[in-house]
Amino acid sequence: MKPLLKALRGEALPRPPIWLMRQAGRYLPEYRALRTKAKSFVDLALNPELAVEVTLQPIRRFGMDGAILFADILLVPHALGQKLEFLAGEGPQLEPIRDAAGLAKLSDARAADILAPVMQTVKGVRAALPPEVTLIGFAGAPWTVATYMIEGRGKTEYENCRRMLWSEPKLFASIMDLLVDSTAAYLNAQAEAGAEALKIFDSWAGAVPAPLFDVAVIAPTARIVKAVKAKHPNIPIIGLPRGAGSHVARYAAETGVDAVAIDHMTDMASVILPPGVVPQGNLDPMLLMVGGAPMEAEARRILASMKGRPFIFNLGHGVLQHTPPEHIARLVEVVKG
Ligand code: CP3
Repeated sequence: MKPLLKALRGEALPRPPIWLMRQAGRYLPEYRALRTKAKSFVDLALNPELAVEVTLQPIRRFGMDGAILFADILLVPHALGQKLEFLAGEGPQLEPIRDAAGLAKLSDARAADILAPVMQTVKGVRAALPPEVTLIGFAGAPWTVATYMIEGRGKTEYENCRRMLWSEPKLFASIMDLLVDSTAAYLNAQAEAGAEALKIFDSWAGAVPAPLFDVAVIAPTARIVKAVKAKHPNIPIIGLPRGAGSHVARYAAETGVDAVAIDHMTDMASVILPPGVVPQGNLDPMLLMVGGAPMEAEARRILASMKGRPFIFNLGHGVLQHTPPEHIARLVEVVKG
């Protein structure tokens, strides 16, 4: 069995498998060269030929144990009919949904067709990957995707989302229902196409008010995990409840995920996960910008602190845009030993 899949099944390996969130993308010169071949970011993500190539770029260059499908969490709202654009330097822009009339414009009727190219990418990557490398499919968690759908952009204080959570729980629940169903279908399609593990990114879980953490994060995630496991009982699922702090153990116990990605604000070795749930993490992505002795010392500290336990080496969040590729090459060397 592939090393990353062994670790996800709870096996402690002589050295942990490594992959990095956002390991494909703008910090790689070969990505920037390829990016100019597509009209827009959405076109790139929905072009199987180019998306297969982008997925493979970091594997070829660095030899990670996992390849993450090249796509984006915002393809789901795009497939539901919400207008989406990526503006250079500003990130994603969507036509915000703030009321029932806005939500009524969305529909999952065409979602599978619009997302079909992603399944071609999954098939293409599986066919091209070295035999020991695991293909990870992914989707955004309903809460994190909803923050973009409701605010209309990233880098916010989530004011419209938090207002809706408290003042219009029924509208919020309807948005969650649509996202739970469409995300479960999207992940099941990736598993059918050949994804060997799945990851659910709740990058902004830390913005949820504590009393609503169940409603916004745990319950929708648990519903997706259940719907995926009903069709694909053996596919491991990694959850990333970024910034969830004191909720992490309960997230791990109640969502049904097989592994939990731990952010760099958390001391990974002291997080208590239920038996069988595997931790993944948690180097500060800033250390990949810094490189050299501080990066190596922290990578070694993490390795030592997790020694003998099932564990997957990763970052606490995604690779930053101006990361020197040589630092990643060195990190992979240090972890592989
Ligand atoms: O390794 C990989 O890069 C795999 C593919 C991948 C992308 N986005 C490609 C991408 C993955 C797994 C994502 C997930 C994603 N997208 C998340 C969750 C993970 C996280 O980082 O928290 C989120 C929140 C998004 C939303 C998103 N997509 C934003 C905020 C932006 C713009 C700003 C930024 O950080 O780049 C994107 C665009 C995006 N997604 C790019 C890439 C390579 C850059 C777009 C470009 O090349 O013009």
